[in-house]
Amino acid sequence: MASNGATPAQHDGHADEYKNHQFPPGPAAEGALVSSRQQYDEMHRESIADPDKFWGKIAEDFVWNKLWQNPVRRFNFDVRTGPVKIEWFVGAETNISYNCLDRHIEAGQGDRVAFYWEGNDLNEDCTVTYSQLLDQVCQLANYLKSVGVKRGSDVTIYMPMIPELPAAMLACARIGAVHSVVFAGFSADSLAGRILDSRPSVVLTASAVKRGAKPINLKGIVDSAIKKVEAQGHSISTVLVYDHALAAKRTDVAFVEGRDVWWQDAVPRQPTECPVEWMGAEEPLFKLYTSGSTGKPKGVEHTTAGYMVGASTTFKYVFDHRQSDIYWCTADCGWITGHSYVTYGPMLNGATQVLFEGVPTYPDAGRAWDIVDKYKVTLLYTAPTAIRALQSFGDKFVTQHSRKTLRILGTVGEPINPEAWKWYHEVVGEGRCPIVDTWWQTETGAHMITPLPGATTLKPGSATLPFFGVEPAVLSEKGEEMEGECEGYLVIKTAWPSCMRTLSGDHERFETTYFKVYPGYYFTGDGCRRDADGYYWLIGRVDDVINVSGHRIGTAEVEGALTQHPQCAEAAVVPVEHPIKGQGIYAYVTLMVGTEYPPPAQLKKELVATVREVIGPIATPDVIHWAPGLPKTRSGKIMRRILRKIASKEEDQLGDTSTLADPSVVQTLLSMRGQ
Ligand code: WT7
Repeated sequence: MASNGATPAQHDGHADEYKNHQFPPGPAAEGALVSSRQQYDEMHRESIADPDKFWGKIAEDFVWNKLWQNPVRRFNFDVRTGPVKIEWFVGAETNISYNCLDRHIEAGQGDRVAFYWEGNDLNEDCTVTYSQLLDQVCQLANYLKSVGVKRGSDVTIYMPMIPELPAAMLACARIGAVHSVVFAGFSADSLAGRILDSRPSVVLTASAVKRGAKPINLKGIVDSAIKKVEAQGHSISTVLVYDHALAAKRTDVAFVEGRDVWWQDAVPRQPTECPVEWMGAEEPLFKLYTSGSTGKPKGVEHTTAGYMVGASTTFKYVFDHRQSDIYWCTADCGWITGHSYVTYGPMLNGATQVLFEGVPTYPDAGRAWDIVDKYKVTLLYTAPTAIRALQSFGDKFVTQHSRKTLRILGTVGEPINPEAWKWYHEVVGEGRCPIVDTWWQTETGAHMITPLPGATTLKPGSATLPFFGVEPAVLSEKGEEMEGECEGYLVIKTAWPSCMRTLSGDHERFETTYFKVYPGYYFTGDGCRRDADGYYWLIGRVDDVINVSGHRIGTAEVEGALTQHPQCAEAAVVPVEHPIKGQGIYAYVTLMVGTEYPPPAQLKKELVATVREVIGPIATPDVIHWAPGLPKTRSGKIMRRILRKIASKEEDQLGDTSTLADPSVVQTLLSMRGQ
């Protein structure tokens, strides 16, 4: 069993030993919702033995317009016995926006702060209470209805991290529209592809945003995406533009008459009351596009009730959430982490959170800790890449700040290397705060393998144990379930509430990607090891997906982007270890016949620019390696194993190259290194 190549950054040999240390919950157990390993074991056992009872009881805390019929869960994971189908709370009706907002206000919590918004620039901030947010959500929902958005309509959202972004998601959910949030760092091409897949008539955006010192012209990107979409025969009737005056002057923004509308002109005029659309448990809530092993991103679809219960319950237990907590998740709403652990999970729990528009290193590397102290953050949820980036600036930026309010630290997105774990634990948390290393995916909707801070003894680098209702298994290459200590493919055996239900418009691809690899199981695409204590250690993707800074980038997507450059004949992309990003993008490029190697230096810049334009800056290749020939088998298949070894400078471990059609390409590739 091998992961797809690069292992996460690991440098400090001493930190490596740290993996063997164990950290019991200690004082974190006091007053915790789950306060002992025994209690966790008992609850996990119940959740598996009787999911109807377990989840049925949890679901009583939500507001339903109609209750479900038993069984709570119905599913088929086995393609051999019929189509894959997952249903929870069949027959029930609810509304997630109601459960995020109205429910708390009716309980007298309207004046609680929902968001402390911290802008990109220092001293730009505001506070939004639950009541205020409900008013905004209702006004926006009414506006959406006025431009023809209905139950079941798709709406694309391309916005910066301002309170209007979660408000837009909640407004869609309120009226039963299906939102598709596209991270506002994706290019016009990527945005166009996603619009063409879900075919909305309305797009929500903002004039611009500043990320650090850099302004980004969001409206301009939307305009060019719409041009591309129109060229394919789809039209957008309304673009609602939030005037983000801090990032751009209104007068500088190009407007299309009759299509573009300023948010501030249209939305506040709407009534602040908007009755919810009671949604069937299995009606869609949102689509979120994520990279797969083929070129086209997959539209992962989540439905209403199971997702609501899953996002809410994981947030509550994994962060041991208390009403006095101030929670800060650094993820953008454009990713699943922002969906489940900014918009839905916390709001379903009536949490107070920080919403940060900027980057943690602007204006300097102390910004994150500045925010922690300013808002007295108790729960912090971030990614290993951010931890490593902050660590690289040195401890003093951290220790200059108090951080005494921090109670629990979370991490997500990729395996955390022991060196970063140690720094997060010792320097950031002063040894006081448990670290919850949460393994999950866009597809799983919510945490799957994770510690509970008051119950789980931590091992640095391990996501530890399954959450309630999750039944993982480790399979061998042949697909056999292994017992005890083992290493193999991580799969899930039974349906959990927040599991995706299908891929947008392509149930066949859904079945092929996740349920046909090992029939009867949900295939995660991750390799993992289980130790003698039953702890899970995630190793990395086993498919052609690169995990760059906790974001999935398909190798095929980057290859497709590179070949859009007129001088690129063929490209092969592999992951390579990167000290901050975890994995970087290493691209081998074969140029059009007749080109001399190495070509003029300018060409590398052009190729990189092409990828940024086609996908977005997150897919920027770290290395371009000229490849007059690629190592292929006689049947023409690229041997990526060899490319990975060359990328990681392990050419002494190339293994068997005798099956190559032309073994001499390896020497040529090696001679091109650094050219
Ligand atoms: C992939 C899912 C889930 C939100 C962020 C990414 C990797 C995620 C961990 C972790 C080891 C992790 C896996 C997974 N991953 N969290 N705690 N330890 N690996 O969501 O873009 O859907 O990516 O991220 O490889 O399959 P995503």
